[in-house]
Amino acid sequence: MQPLISASTIAHRVRELGASIRADYAASPDPVLVGVLRGSLPFLADLMRAIDRPLRVDLLTIRSYQGTGAAPPELLSGLSEPLAGSDVLVVEDIVDRGETIAAVTGVLAASGARSVAVCSLLVRRERALPPGIEPRYAGFEIGPDFVVGYGLDYNQRYRNLPYIAVLGEEMDLDGAGPG
Ligand code: IMP
Ligand code: MG
Repeated sequence: MQPLISASTIAHRVRELGASIRADYAASPDPVLVGVLRGSLPFLADLMRAIDRPLRVDLLTIRSYQGTGAAPPELLSGLSEPLAGSDVLVVEDIVDRGETIAAVTGVLAASGARSVAVCSLLVRRERALPPGIEPRYAGFEIGPDFVVGYGLDYNQRYRNLPYIAVLGEEMDLDGAGPG
C-alpha cells in the first residue's frame, strides 16, 4: 500500500509540534493533553513524548463515523480527572467537518479549564470550518480522499498501519480478513 504520509514524515512533524507546544505552554502550570479516542491513540502516544515538560494526559471517547458515512458525534466515555484551572490541549486524529471538535469543546466548556485548544494530526481542507473550530496546531492538511492508518480507521480496521494511506479498492473494505 502506498503511503500518503510516511512514518518518518509523521515522526518529523510530531517532533516539530511537540517543540511548538512546549514553547507555547512554557508558562502553563498545568497543561493537560486530552486525547480523543480511538483515532488519536498513536498520535497522542508520540506527541506526549515529544513535549519535554511535565504534563497530564486524559482521554475522551467520541464516536462520529460509521464506515465512511458521517453520524452525529456521540460521547461514549468521559474524563477521569478534573480539568479546572488547567490548560487543555485536545489531541485529535483529523478535523473534517469540525463536528467532533465542536462536541468535544462543548463537553470541555463545563470543565472550568483555563484554556482549551486543539492539536489535530490532520485537517481536511475541503470546506471552511465553523468559527472557533480551527485547530491551533495542525500536522498536515489533506484533500477529500478518505484516509486510514496511524490511528485512523475504516470500520475499526487499519488503525495499526504505521503510516497514513488513502483507503483503496485493493483494501479489505469488509474487514473480513484475508481471502
Ligand atoms: P468531523 O466531526 O467531521 O470533523 O470528523 C472528525 C472525525 O471523523 C475524526 O475524528 C475521525 O474519527 C473521522 N474521520 C474523518 N475523516 C476521516 C478519514 O479520512 N479517515 C478516517 N476517519 C475519518
Ligand atoms: Mg476521531
